[in-house]
This record gives sequence, C-alpha cells and structure tokens, in this order.
Amino acid sequence: MNIRPSVSQWEKLIRPDQVHGSLYSDPAIFEAELQNIWYRTWVYVGHESEVPNANDYVVKSIGPQSVIMTRDEQGKVNLLLNRCSHRGNQVCSYDKGNARSFTCPFHSWTFANDGRLVGYAFPEGYEGGDKSKLGLGRVTRVQAYRGFVFGSFAADGPTLEEHLGGAAETIDRLVRTSPEGEIEVTAGFLKHRVKANWKFILENECDGYHPAFVHSSIFNVADSAIGNLYGGKSTAVSRDYGNGHTEIDLRSEFRRRDQPMSWFGTTAEKLPDYVSRMEAAYGAEQARQIMIDGTPHVMIFPNLFIAEIQMFVIQPLAVDDSVQHVTALQFKGAPDINRRLRQQTMGSVGPAGLLLADDSEMYERCHRGVLARSPEWIFLGRGERREQRDADGFTVGHVTDEVPSRGIWRHYRSLMEAR
Ligand SMILES: [Fe+2]
Repeated sequence: MNIRPSVSQWEKLIRPDQVHGSLYSDPAIFEAELQNIWYRTWVYVGHESEVPNANDYVVKSIGPQSVIMTRDEQGKVNLLLNRCSHRGNQVCSYDKGNARSFTCPFHSWTFANDGRLVGYAFPEGYEGGDKSKLGLGRVTRVQAYRGFVFGSFAADGPTLEEHLGGAAETIDRLVRTSPEGEIEVTAGFLKHRVKANWKFILENECDGYHPAFVHSSIFNVADSAIGNLYGGKSTAVSRDYGNGHTEIDLRSEFRRRDQPMSWFGTTAEKLPDYVSRMEAAYGAEQARQIMIDGTPHVMIFPNLFIAEIQMFVIQPLAVDDSVQHVTALQFKGAPDINRRLRQQTMGSVGPAGLLLADDSEMYERCHRGVLARSPEWIFLGRGERREQRDADGFTVGHVTDEVPSRGIWRHYRSLMEAR
C-alpha cells in the first residue's frame, strides 16, 4: 500500500505562503514524514559529551525509534537500534550508564556495545548459526559536527556538512562562547510531552511574532528587556539558511545596545571567572565581541533547537503526540556561568518554568484548532514583500516575519516530493 500522496498532491497542500491544515493532523502524512524525513535526512541524536568514556551509553531516539548511542572500547561512537535481533524486545532499559554489553531481558541474548551479537543463552540449539548476521540494527550513517552527533538512515545523500550548510556557522558561534571552544550536554534532560503535531514546535522555535504576546508574563515577571527584541521596532532579523534551518538573529540589537549578553549579566563583576577565562582564551577584544553576540537562536531541521542558553530536541511519536527533550547548555571550563545557565533553564523550561509551558499551550491549542475544517489553510505570508538577502545570500526578514516558516515548508516539500 502506498500511503504517500503523489507529487501533485504535495503541490496542492503547500504553497509559498500557505500550507494546508491537514499537514498537521493527517496520520497518513505523518507516516510519509517518517519515511521521507525522519528515516532519511540527517537527524540530531546526541552529543559526544554524553558518552565521554569507553563503554558509556545513553538512550536517544530518531522519531518513535529508540536509539542507543554508545562509545565502544575503541572509542568510536555507535548509534544502535534498541531492538533485539531475536524477537524484537528492547535490549536496553535504562536512560544511560556504562556497559560493555546489553543483555536482552526476554531470552538473554547478549550484544556488545558496538552492536555485535556475542552470545545466546543455551547455545546448543543454534549449532552452525552465524552470529555475525544477528547483530543489533544500526543507524546507517553517523557523523558529528563539533560534538553534535547526527544520524541518517539513508545510505547515501548529502553529507552532514552539506545538510547543515550555512547553519553550521551558528554551531561554530555557539561553541566559541565556551572558553575551551566546546559545549557539554551534562545537565540532564527534562521531557515535556504535548498533544500536538511536531511541526507546530519546529515552526514556533524561530517564530519571532509570538513572544510579545505568548511570553509577556515572563517578560513582566523577570522585568526583562528581551520582549523589546521581538517588538515592532526591533532591528533583529529572522533568517532562512535553506535545508529547513532557521534563525532568529538578535546580534544587531545586542551590538547596538552594547550590553554584553545583557540577560546573562556576563560582566566581570557578576561572572569574573568566566570573563577572565574568555579573555585568556580569545584576547580581551575578541572575548568582548563574543560575549556581546552571545549564543545563537537557531532551529536545525528537523529536531535540534539551540535556544541561546538551552537545547531542545524535538521527538515526534505520532501525528498528535510529541516530546520536547530540554537541557541547559554547558560551556566546558566555565563553572560559574554554567550554574547560571542551569538556574535560568529551570526558571524558563523546568517543571514550573514560565516559558515552555506557554508555548506548549499554544501547540496544543493549534492542534485542536486545525481539526476544524474551515478555513482549510494556514496563512504564512507575513513579511513576504519585505524579504531581503543578507551579505551571505540568505533570506532575511524582520524578526516578526514568517521567513522561517516559509523556509521550513519549502524544504519540507522538497523532501516529501523526493522518491
Ligand atoms: Fe515561544
């Protein structure tokens, strides 16, 4: 049975400034997305710092599939599918740990942490069997960029660097904010489950139109100037990097105000250790510029959102069921700012956080809303007539314009039409 709409059907569902509401709610569309996006393109899985030592492992996911990221005894990072090659049981029951092997709880088959089957219980029944054909499934291609590990089930296709394209520079910008040039994902993850389609989350991450309304309460409570960055007079821009990657670039505002990462308070008085380490690493002038520009606000298609001080990983489980995995970013060799990054993350996206709860409510309301049959279309035309090209040739618009959503859907259509 072919559940994928034909090419002409995608043309009927996606226009340059409008998308059909059924794209968020039709289970057949979701199945087609698993095949054409989640099980084909590069998907962020985990970070090398989560498995620093030989035999460390952490359980991650690609869409609904459970994936074990291991570092084997040779130091290589593997992405193994959490499914026994015998009867399909999950071989790993824990979120993370350190183990040379995984033993399936059902019939005790044992797999090395590089995926090889190393033994079955009561082997007498398997005389002449070939263990080498019964290893764990693997993610076909594994590549890392500056510690961020991505996987693709497609045997060929674009390299990770080609997929990241211009958005790779945002990851460079992120790691540069660490005095040792490395990010660590060591603060632990919170999981927020929402009854909403994953694309509402994907599009919202670089939607600069909503913060002034959805997040007005946290801006008021925190007495924060961040709200102004998303106002009508802001000089910040929204950007489409191509390949579905999008950004809210606030640097023009930070540079204009000359208040280094103001909401971080990265002044020598507040964070003397961090500032002195940055100056030692980069020199006073370059360190100052890095701390003004701060970390990026970038959505790497389809599931990695670097949100300045946090990282979100989007996991779709079903057409109307998604999980947001959230953690505080940590800079290697910067304990004083890391403490602050964790505290601010708890305040904004923790269990009682004031930011993510507001967005999640919007996702679920949107999902319930699109189930109504009319009007059939979602309108994404904001700022279409004032789009510009930046110095690198990427499309940019006002921070409140829907440049990111249009970029996401253009790439989405190209992936869904591919055979
Ligand atoms: Fe938001």
